[in-house]
Amino acid sequence: MPENATANPRALAAQVAALPWYHSIELPGGITTPGVVKNRRVLARYHLPSSLAGKTLLDVGAWDGFYSFDAARRGATDVLAADSFSWDGRGWGRKESFEFARRTLGLEGKVRDQLIDPTELSPEAIGGQFDVVLLLGVLYHLEDPIGVLRRVAACCRELLVLETESTLNWLPFPAARMFPGAELNGDPTNWYQYNERALKGLLHEVGFTTANTVFKYPLYRRFARALRDRLKGKSFRSAFYSSRIIIHARKA
Ligand SMILES: C[S@@+](CC[C@H](N)C(=O)[O-])C[C@H]1O[C@@H](n2cnc3c(N)ncnc32)[C@H](O)[C@@H]1O
Repeated sequence: MPENATANPRALAAQVAALPWYHSIELPGGITTPGVVKNRRVLARYHLPSSLAGKTLLDVGAWDGFYSFDAARRGATDVLAADSFSWDGRGWGRKESFEFARRTLGLEGKVRDQLIDPTELSPEAIGGQFDVVLLLGVLYHLEDPIGVLRRVAACCRELLVLETESTLNWLPFPAARMFPGAELNGDPTNWYQYNERALKGLLHEVGFTTANTVFKYPLYRRFARALRDRLKGKSFRSAFYSSRIIIHARKA
């Protein structure tokens, strides 16, 4: 059982409160980290394999580690949580949050970590290929998304779970949209949205044989979200632009 978790929930709560959180991670003692994203609420949309027994898994852009810890709980034998931007001080995240959650959950022996930028990924850099790779919420942050997708594909043996920004899905051809400045969600690190055809085309291009969409953000949810942002004094348009897709891509 993890260090002081259940023994002293008040001390645990104080330690949680002292750290920044992107993920909402359920810790022992009924404490959940106050993340921006309510992960438990959205987990089903990823359609992750219910069992990862015997599988190795790479989580690219792991941040606080919710999906890495989830993979360990699903039985993955070796989980590598990889990140840079949210761990090396360029963003508002801190690697200490990931380390604290991992320690508190008692997953130190099951989830490894590596400080590595997506632009530097290769089987050589991370000790080989992984059966399953998660690329969740990362692609649209990258200035060279196609180059990184190629790198991620090289690190993946079986299944890639890709979650990213997507738009223009009504167009009958592959298309991308670009966001200079902070036009998408007020975040200057958001660059590109691809439509579903473009994403599937790119996934085939980098070596996946099948690519199936398992989730697309519905229009009414985008509208509701944008309205909520507007009521908070933020830009309706910027939030309305944001729309997500989740694709499972497999190698034969
Ligand atoms: C929206 S968060 C997604 C975190 C997690 N994968 C999830 O789905 O909840 C974006 C992730 O991409 C990483 N990232 C990598 N390169 C980045 C860049 N150039 N700009 C911003 N974020 C970047 C961040 O560190 C962060 O972990």
